[in-house]
Amino acid sequence: MCWLEVSRLDIIDADIRRAETLPSRFYTDPNTFDEVISGFANSWHFAAHEDQLSSVNALPLPHIEGMVREPMLLTKDDEVRCISNVCTHRGMVVVNEPCSAGVLVCPYHGRSFSLDGCFRHMPEFEQVEDFPTPADDLRQFPLESWKGLLFTTIDGVDFERWIAPLEERLGWLPVDSFRHAPSRHREYTIEANWALYVDNYLEGFHIPYVHGDLHDVLDHDGYRTELFDGGVLQVGMAREGESCFDLPESSPDHGERVAAYYYWFHPGLMLNFYPWGLSVNLVVPLSVNRTAIVYHGFVGDESLLDMGAGGDLDKVEDEDQFVVEATQRGVASRAYERGRYSPTRETGVHHFHRLLTRG
Ligand code: FES
Ligand SMILES: [Fe+2]
Repeated sequence: MCWLEVSRLDIIDADIRRAETLPSRFYTDPNTFDEVISGFANSWHFAAHEDQLSSVNALPLPHIEGMVREPMLLTKDDEVRCISNVCTHRGMVVVNEPCSAGVLVCPYHGRSFSLDGCFRHMPEFEQVEDFPTPADDLRQFPLESWKGLLFTTIDGVDFERWIAPLEERLGWLPVDSFRHAPSRHREYTIEANWALYVDNYLEGFHIPYVHGDLHDVLDHDGYRTELFDGGVLQVGMAREGESCFDLPESSPDHGERVAAYYYWFHPGLMLNFYPWGLSVNLVVPLSVNRTAIVYHGFVGDESLLDMGAGGDLDKVEDEDQFVVEATQRGVASRAYERGRYSPTRETGVHHFHRLLTRG
């Protein structure tokens, strides 16, 4: 065990009233960054909504490559699979853009594979002995679906257990019928550590200070934060007259005025459910102080777009990026090392920091 591993364990007190926040090196030190993200292979990662495969049959997953440093590809023939996107000849990435092809052909020297990843053909290899073997096929990765949302992993925990907090709360929501909306796609690169972006997401504490328009539609006192094993759920309540879910009796929140369900799954997956549909936000660590933020939108009811908490997401994002980038400059200061938590408003951030440092 190296000193970095030793230094990670138990550094966040379980009692939020006594705890200090994450030491600043988690946001600024490249070695700590490398150590932390090496653990991401143990998580499930959002790959795509099945609707994204309605017009293509091979979809590269660059955001997952950013998370776990593993080029992956979703393919669809008689079934949907997640396979390696690395050619078994000399390691070229096989598919670089979404496409509709019956056969996958490596652009480097022409090796071809079926959509299920099986080796098909290789030019100039007639004289090679013991060829091909199963090692020449593209490797498969686990793939699971929850209501049309596809998730993959390298060494993930039990999927049913992992997804249970979502199923228990939103099992009634017809996510499978949501349609991919390419016009809602966004990609940003911000000058900040990925965990600062997650910290900011995990508390509604800043809403009155940072997001004036959002504050006008959310009931600040009704805002709830619930912790579960692999993540955090925040429930935003609508002010009187503002857009909210029409919750069926089967919902545990039936009778309440829910404006948004904000799910975060460790490390960087955010599933934001609004009355109009789902905004998936992916937090992709590029380096210790650069992060990509990727948005995918899936619409269930177009008539509810642009209303309530899920209305002007671009403005909210802009406001969040301002504080997150400025905080990156602040945590790099000699004058800053650690802070303290609000026991009423920062339980989600505390839970995240405990997850990050539990070894
Ligand atoms: S690396 Fe793919 S064919 Fe050579
Ligand atoms: Fe925010």
